[in-house]
Amino acid sequence: MAKRTIEDLNVKGKTVLVRVDFNVPHKNGTVTDDTRIRAALPTINYLTSHGAKVILFSHLGKIKTEEDKAKNDMSIVAEALAGLQSAPVKFVNATRGAELEDAVHGLKEGEILLMQNTRYEPGETKNDPELAKYWASLADLYVEDAFGSVHRAHASTVGVPALLPNAGGYLIAKELKYLGKALDDPARPFVAVLGGAKVSDKIGVIDNLLEKADKVIAGGAMAYTFIAAKGYGVGTSLVETDKIEDAKKFIAKGGDKLILPVDTVITDNLDNPTRIETVDCDKMPEGMMGVDIGPKTIALFTKALEGAHTVFWNGPMGVFEKEEFAAGTKGICAAVAALPDCMSVIGGGDSASAAKKFGYADKFTHISTGGGASLEYMEGKQLPGIAVLSDKA
Ligand code: 3PG
Repeated sequence: MAKRTIEDLNVKGKTVLVRVDFNVPHKNGTVTDDTRIRAALPTINYLTSHGAKVILFSHLGKIKTEEDKAKNDMSIVAEALAGLQSAPVKFVNATRGAELEDAVHGLKEGEILLMQNTRYEPGETKNDPELAKYWASLADLYVEDAFGSVHRAHASTVGVPALLPNAGGYLIAKELKYLGKALDDPARPFVAVLGGAKVSDKIGVIDNLLEKADKVIAGGAMAYTFIAAKGYGVGTSLVETDKIEDAKKFIAKGGDKLILPVDTVITDNLDNPTRIETVDCDKMPEGMMGVDIGPKTIALFTKALEGAHTVFWNGPMGVFEKEEFAAGTKGICAAVAALPDCMSVIGGGDSASAAKKFGYADKFTHISTGGGASLEYMEGKQLPGIAVLSDKA
């Protein structure tokens, strides 16, 4: 059933608490990638232009110590947000208390307030009912637009919307549209491309996509666990030995549908390589580690992608941050970007960074703002931050 959207709410004159995902990369007090902030603007602009008083709240980073708090101060995001849209942004350096409440009561229609990092509150990640009740008491309505966080059952994503009239924002609607189409109603052939470091992160998604997709391409470091499962040596490559049995099951279940690398780039040392070679995957020498797919594999994967009308891609093919080991990820990025009549969706995280780095970002139909959230969605899991939202009347 479709979820209620902000256009179903009467927001004029109302105080609206909006959960955004402003968990953005930052360095030396400056936001280094504002994609997630830009992605929230359609919802923020709709609310301000329709007379809402807007309270934004988000987590930033993982908070365990006072040092983590200092490193993840939301004020840097307030500055970045202020530079991206016209309404003034008031930053409140608090997550509860008189300063926050006074600022909320002082909000006028069309104004925006951003509160401090939600994870400064220890109760946030525990979905503490008292904290949820307090945050809900600040507003009349709740809007969820933090797609990257809807796989978390936290106070700001699940506790608060359970207590207020709620709806999903434009980013939520956009993410569900593309990911939902890929998973539930894909134009076929549907090819999934999975990479990244660990099989363990992707067990659920491989399993589900072996059912739903026409082909599943597996590259990246996780492929070495599959190569080990076939009984070949993998040198010093990253292998999850406790996942070899799962990999064997996927090889049996997938049959021809599961496409694995046939050659690989290997090196003696990732940081200071003195030897870089390409070998077939059944001939990996001892003492060398796999760091990228090889040219035969790029050709094999490119061929497997030919004619695809839907592609979901999550996870790089190699250590693309280093030029020497970037060819595989670049090659697959180029191959997907060139597909005609294809809905191509990147599932956030490193593959999104790779598409941007190599200049292909605008060639994809949709780049998800949620890494973990898009993977859990493609696993077929229910996302708690979506499940809690009210259905359309
Ligand atoms: C993300 O970056 O994937 C989301 O913001 C969720 O962050 P988390 O993994 O710290 O909950």
